Formats: sequence, C-alpha cells, structure tokens
Amino acid sequence: MTALAQHLAERIRAEGPLSVADYMTEALTHPDHGYYMSGDPLGRAGDFITAPEVSQMFGELIGLWCAHQWTEMGSPPDIKIVELGPGRGTLMADAVRAGTGVPGFLEAAAVHLIEASPALAKRQKRSLSTLSVAINWHPYFEDVPGGPLLVIANEFLDALPIRQFVRTDSGWSERCVDLDAEGCLIWSEIEGPAPTPLPAHAATALVGDIIEISEPRDRLAAQIAGAIRGHGGAALFVDYGHTQSAPGDTLQAVKGHRYHDVLADPGDADVTSHVDFEALGAIARAAGTAVSGPVTQGAFLTSLGIEARADQLSGGATPRQTGEVLAGLKRLIAPSEMGTLFKVLAITQTDLPLPEGFQNRGF
Ligand SMILES: C[S@@+](CC[C@H](N)C(=O)[O-])C[C@H]1O[C@@H](n2cnc3c(N)ncnc32)[C@H](O)[C@@H]1O
Repeated sequence: MTALAQHLAERIRAEGPLSVADYMTEALTHPDHGYYMSGDPLGRAGDFITAPEVSQMFGELIGLWCAHQWTEMGSPPDIKIVELGPGRGTLMADAVRAGTGVPGFLEAAAVHLIEASPALAKRQKRSLSTLSVAINWHPYFEDVPGGPLLVIANEFLDALPIRQFVRTDSGWSERCVDLDAEGCLIWSEIEGPAPTPLPAHAATALVGDIIEISEPRDRLAAQIAGAIRGHGGAALFVDYGHTQSAPGDTLQAVKGHRYHDVLADPGDADVTSHVDFEALGAIARAAGTAVSGPVTQGAFLTSLGIEARADQLSGGATPRQTGEVLAGLKRLIAPSEMGTLFKVLAITQTDLPLPEGFQNRGF
C-alpha cells in the first residue's frame, strides 16, 4: 500500500467516501505524496512521454504560433507568455528559441509558468536558465498580472479533477472512492441530487452511463477567456479528449507507459481524464472570446509546417539523427499515434483573424 493510500484510508474513515475529484486532487497534488509533487514522471525512464519530449518541433511550432498571434495583435510592447503545467520546461525552451526569429517578440515577452510541483519547478529553472526572457512562477493562473497574454497548455487540463455521476433508474448517484472490509480502496456510489448545472448531454445518458464534470477546468477556462476578453490575447489548449460532449467514463491511470488500475497505487501513477473540448469551447464563447477548433494535433501541426521543419532538420544530419526526426514526426502526427487522439483548440480575442493551424471557427 502506498503512503498516500494509507492517508486516503484514514481520511475516508474520518470523513466518508471521497468524490473522484477529491481522489484526483490527493493523488496528483497532495503536498507530500502527490504524484507530481516530488519526482519527474516524464520521459522514457518515467511513466509517459509528452509531445515536447518527443521532438523539439512541437515547441518550436507553438512558439512561432505565439509570435504570429503577437504580430496579429499589433505587436504590443508587453506580452505575457503563460504556460500551464510546463513539465520539464522543454516546450517553453523550444518555443522561446523559435521566437528569436521574429523581430521584437522576445523583447516584448515575459514568461509566466503555472506549476504546482516544486520538483518540476526546479527542473524548469534548469531548462530555462539560459533563456534571455524574464521568467516568473505562480501556483495559480489568477496570480498572473493583468495585460495582453498568450496562454499555452499541453496535457494540463487532463490533470484537473473531475467528478463522475452515474445515471440510475431514479436519478443520479455520484461515483466515489470508499474502503472495503480489508481497508483497500474500492469504488462506491452515493445516491444524491443531480449535478448542477446538469450538462445538456446528460439527457442522452442511459441507466449505468457516467457523465463527467470538471469544475476546476470550467472555472479556469472562464478565467482565461475573461483575461483574453479584458486584455487581449489568445490561448492554445492541446490535450487528449473528445470533440463533442457525451456520456462516458474517461478516468485513467498510467504508470510505466501502461494503463494502470486507477485505485491501485495513488501517488505512484498519473491519474487523468479526457478533456471535453465542446464544453471548453462553449465556456470560452460565453465569456466573450472567439473559439477555433478543435482540430486534431496531426492536422494542426501539419498545417503549421511540421513536415517542412522535419526536412530542414534532416538536411545534413546523420542517418541516426534523421531517423530520430522522422520517428518524432510520425509519433506527433500519425493517426495511429498522437495525431488523432490529441486535439487542439484556440481561444482568441474576437477581432483577430482565424489563427494559424485552424480551418474554421469551432462548432
Ligand atoms: C502531464 S504534465 C505535462 C507537462 C508539459 N506540459 C509537457 O507537455 O511536457 C502536467 C504538468 O502539470 C502540472 N500540474 C498538474 N496539476 C497541476 C495543478 N493543479 N496546478 C498546477 N500545475 C499542475 C504538473 O506538475 C506538470 O508540470
């Protein structure tokens, strides 16, 4: 039993079953035993590999996307580049390096990183120490000072807690984490009132179906859209998820590059859920911003020119390096790899043209 599982068992004995959201919060960000709080789970030796760790091309193209948005905004003299959940800092390092090619962009930019993990913040300091831009760390998005901003989030929203509700014969019950007679973590359901507000797609749920609601994700989307509406700017969200809201259980755990039992090793496995991009877009639109996408990661990166960048990186490279570039390209855009599962959605101030990488406004 992990140290966190013991803590959770004590908490459940004292307070009763935990919601899935409380379980995720503890599993990921408990100050002593949370998954992200002490170690570095990324990379081949860790539990999973994210797109910026696959290839420098991912961060470079996102950096150029940001620089282009900045010029579309009229090149304001101060622009905050905000990254949510920067991991090892690899995406930001590649993005800033690519941004040096756009005159004036880095002189105008200050980087703001939103990070809960002291261990990863330390790692980010190492990765970003040689960059010639100011870098600030904050625990929450609302700590970023006002002003025009460009927000980037890759595989961040999936880590924000969700609650799960199960359709029953008579209404709804909430899926919770409880203890069995031996003190092991098990799933349970608590009958209760319908979640409020009840999302429209709940009407399509059959008995036994699960719907997922992420209050922190929805709140953050509204805050970011409000900041963009108020100060100008854009946001780019990349994550695994679905384009249309629908019932379904998407809670998952990953450990050692494999799916893992969600309740088996709290604190030692990543626990996430799929992002509901339709809900995200609706919140941003209601907050007064324009929404583009979602498009697949493969379509987005291809439209930004990832194949030409791969050709450029391969020119003059050794056969081994070329093989790595092409393997990274395939991993990022192939439908059988990350190309289709991952989606990209942009939020922009309403007077900006359709952002690069998108063919139309969403929904
Ligand atoms: C899956 S990693 C993604 C890392 C990076 N974006 C990448 O693509 O490599 C999730 C990141 O979000 C951070 N994180 C998770 N939950 C958070 C929270 N509630 N507040 C702030 N950061 C959080 C983690 O510490 C980590 O840096």
